[in-house]
Amino acid sequence: MKQQGIDRFSGKRVWVIGASSGIGEACAQTLLSKGAKVALSSRRAERLNQIALNAKDGQTLVIPLDVTDYAQLQEGYNTILSAWGGIDLLLFVSGMYVPLRADNFDIKVAEKTIDANLLGPMRAVALVVPEMLNAQSGHIAIVGSVAGYSGLPKALAYGPSKAAIINFCENLYYDLLPTGVSVHMISPGFVATEATAQNDFEMPALISAKQAADEILMGIQKGEFDIHFPKRFSRFLKFLRILPYPIYFWIVRRFVKI
Ligand SMILES: NC(=O)c1ccc[n+]([C@@H]2O[C@H](COP(=O)([O-])OP(=O)(O)OC[C@H]3O[C@@H](n4cnc5c(N)ncnc54)[C@H](OP(=O)(O)O)[C@@H]3O)[C@@H](O)[C@H]2O)c1
Repeated sequence: MKQQGIDRFSGKRVWVIGASSGIGEACAQTLLSKGAKVALSSRRAERLNQIALNAKDGQTLVIPLDVTDYAQLQEGYNTILSAWGGIDLLLFVSGMYVPLRADNFDIKVAEKTIDANLLGPMRAVALVVPEMLNAQSGHIAIVGSVAGYSGLPKALAYGPSKAAIINFCENLYYDLLPTGVSVHMISPGFVATEATAQNDFEMPALISAKQAADEILMGIQKGEFDIHFPKRFSRFLKFLRILPYPIYFWIVRRFVKI
C-alpha cells in the first residue's frame, strides 16, 4: 500500500506553521507561487503580514499564534475552518534550537524545546486529524531533523525533541496509511536560516531555504513518507546510525569538531 501524493498545489488549502522565516517562509512563498491557498502561522504577525502582502487577494490567511498554546492553535484552526472549510495539508515547520551540552544544560530551555518542537506538532495534529479522518484524505507533514537520527554534540534538548518527532511520525504513518491520510516526515540537514546563523562551525552540505522548500514540496507531491535532504549528508547520517556504538562515537568524535 502506498500513500497519496498531491498532483498539484494550485487551489490546495495549506496551513504552514512556522511561516515567518527560514524553511517555513520559503515553503509558504513557493506554495503561493504555485497557486495554493496558504494560512500563515507563527508568533511574529508583522512578518506574516509582509508575506501576505505579496500574495493575491483571498490567497492567504494570517493567523499569528504560539505553538506552545493549545487554545491559540485551536482558535487558529477554527478560523481556517470558517474561511476555507478545512485544510488539505498541515505543514508544521516551526521549531527552536538552543545549543545545549552537559556543561550548560538548562532544564528551562529543555522544557521549552520539548514544548515547542514535540508537543507543538502533537497539538496541531490532534486538531486536524478528526476532519481528515472524516474526509478520508489530507496530508500531515512535520519537519524534524537529521539531528533526531542519533546523538550529536550541542543538541542535548533539540536532539531528543527531533528523535521523538521521528517516532511520532512513524506511529502516525502506521495508523493513518489505511485511512487515506498521508504522513510526511521531513528530516533536513543543514539549511542556511536565522536558526543556523548562530552556528560557529562549518556546516557540511549546507543548502538554502529555497532548496529545502523545493525538496519538501517535491517529496509531498510524490507521496513520500521519509523526506530527507540533502541526500549526500542525510544518507551518510542514516548509515552512521546503524553502526555499532563504539564505531559511531569514534566517527562523531573524529569528524564533528564542535
Ligand atoms: N536550519 C537548519 O539547518 C535545520 C536543520 C534541520 C531541521 N530544521 C528544522 O526546520 C524548522 C525550521 O527551522 P529554520 O531553520 O527555518 O528556523 P527559523 O528561521 O528560526 O524559523 C523557525 C520558525 O519557527 C517559528 N516558531 C518558533 N517557535 C515558535 C512558537 N513557539 N510558536 C510558533 N512559531 C514558532 C518561527 O516564527 P516566530 O518566531 O515568528 O514564532 C519561525 O517561523 C525547525 O523545526 C528546525 O528544527 C532546521
